[in-house]
Amino acid sequence: MRPTVIMKAAMTLDGQLAAADGTSQWITSPEARRDAHRLRAQVDAVMVGAGTVRADDPRLTVRLPSQSGEGVAQPVPVIVAGSGPLPAAAQLFRRDPVVLTPREVDLPGRLIVAPDPTGDRVDLANGLDRLGSLGMATIMLEGGAGLFRSFLDAGLIDRAVLYYGPLLAGGVGSPMFGGRWETLTDGRAVRIGEVSRMGGSIRVDVDLAG
Ligand SMILES: NC(=O)c1ccc[n+]([C@@H]2O[C@H](COP(=O)([O-])OP(=O)(O)OC[C@H]3O[C@@H](n4cnc5c(N)ncnc54)[C@H](OP(=O)(O)O)[C@@H]3O)[C@@H](O)[C@H]2O)c1
Repeated sequence: MRPTVIMKAAMTLDGQLAAADGTSQWITSPEARRDAHRLRAQVDAVMVGAGTVRADDPRLTVRLPSQSGEGVAQPVPVIVAGSGPLPAAAQLFRRDPVVLTPREVDLPGRLIVAPDPTGDRVDLANGLDRLGSLGMATIMLEGGAGLFRSFLDAGLIDRAVLYYGPLLAGGVGSPMFGGRWETLTDGRAVRIGEVSRMGGSIRVDVDLAG
């Protein structure tokens, strides 16, 4: 069965995921980041794009103050890679990640080759189905903007948890979604659910399905 996809993003109040130089740590308050770790602890897998692996070298582990890390079930890391090189020394490769890729590549992870009709990109729906067949029922989509856009375009995001930090970027760095918004009717109508305060930040839950 296709896994449920929960997009998670941490942004400035004016919707920027990262500055133009790629820096993004940390935009939101510690309370919001702890909340995001609690979310991570509830999903089967966490997914990022190759750009985030290159820029941030993330570990994508659950790190909560009340837990030492030992004995905590860790979600499986999943990388979506296209044509660019991935650093084999990236921290994620120590965690036996799944790599969704359009072609066979020589990388330390568990490869799922799922090309789209062009052969250059991953067919995300097929990739998700294959992750589902590995027993993954919920996936947290953690960015960045390029991967968010790919999922939005494919209509594959079920829910979003958006954290807004107490910071105004004041310009364009990396907006929540890559690419352009051409005209009003291209926008997606969503249902805004809970809105809550997380220390100095705000969490907005959004329903995209249906
Ligand atoms: N604030 C936040 O919540 C947050 C979260 C994550 C990241 N970030 C920031 O976002 C920035 C990175 O974002 P980004 O947009 O550059 O990178 P990204 O979204 O992490 O990755 C984009 C890359 O993913 C691959 N990709 C995406 N869709 C694909 C598809 N359908 N098929 C195959 N490959 C696909 C491509 O890899 P190839 O290049 O290999 O073709 C693409 O270039 C960093 O500055 C990071 O700090 C912020």
